[in-house]
Amino acid sequence: MPEAEAVRSMFGGIAKRYDLANHLLSGGMDYWWRKVLVTKVHHTNPSLVVDLATGSGDVAFALKSKLGDSVQVQGLDFCRPMLDEAEKKRLNRSPASDISFAVGDILNLSLSTNTIDAITVAFGIRNLENRARGLQEIHRTLRAGGHLFILEFSQPYAWFRPLYYAYLKYFLPTFAGWITRQPDAYNYLGDSIEAFPTRQQLLDELKAAGFTNLQAYPMTLGIVAIHQGTAT
Ligand SMILES: C[S@@+](CC[C@H](N)C(=O)[O-])C[C@H]1O[C@@H](n2cnc3c(N)ncnc32)[C@H](O)[C@@H]1O
Repeated sequence: MPEAEAVRSMFGGIAKRYDLANHLLSGGMDYWWRKVLVTKVHHTNPSLVVDLATGSGDVAFALKSKLGDSVQVQGLDFCRPMLDEAEKKRLNRSPASDISFAVGDILNLSLSTNTIDAITVAFGIRNLENRARGLQEIHRTLRAGGHLFILEFSQPYAWFRPLYYAYLKYFLPTFAGWITRQPDAYNYLGDSIEAFPTRQQLLDELKAAGFTNLQAYPMTLGIVAIHQGTAT
């Protein structure tokens, strides 16, 4: 698993161009993935939602617009430059959104135990130095019956893998390198996707952390998936 300081510094280096690279590299599919995610969160009818590894805040903003003013949304991330991008977007909205963005490390959350209704983590779990510890920490902060939603890259359907892995290895670092001037960050992206557990393995990890009602929902030929679990 990646070293935390290296991950923080890598995201600091791409923060300003992160959104553009995201939209271009996913061909705009990231909007759809977020939409499915926030719809699933909406079905659980939460009052307090925390978006961890919020980055430039797009999931937090999508949650706020789907869930409405009565639902409190917080975004936490351990990389200040990514949060600065989220905060800029927040202030540019009219009226400014009342989402609170703050520094927070998934491996050591300052959130109280047993208090949160729903937690989302989009494309953040893969970057944790210690995933088991992160899942335990998330479980600690959710109230019993609270929900975790993980939107993350996943292993694509078998027939599509050779093409997709070639895309990750050859096209992605070159193209994203032009946009962000940080090709290494996108070499890391491809490597971390290939090394990421299968849907079943991640479900097993969620079970080990104490989650029940486990589901994995693959999208776009399995290149991403939403994993969902309920805290006990
Ligand atoms: C690929 S970005 C995803 C950002 C956003 N969730 C999205 O969907 O666009 C991953 C984010 O995870 C954050 N991150 C990685 N490890 C973290 C940790 N231990 N605690 C909090 N944030 C972390 C990084 O700083 C980065 O902003």
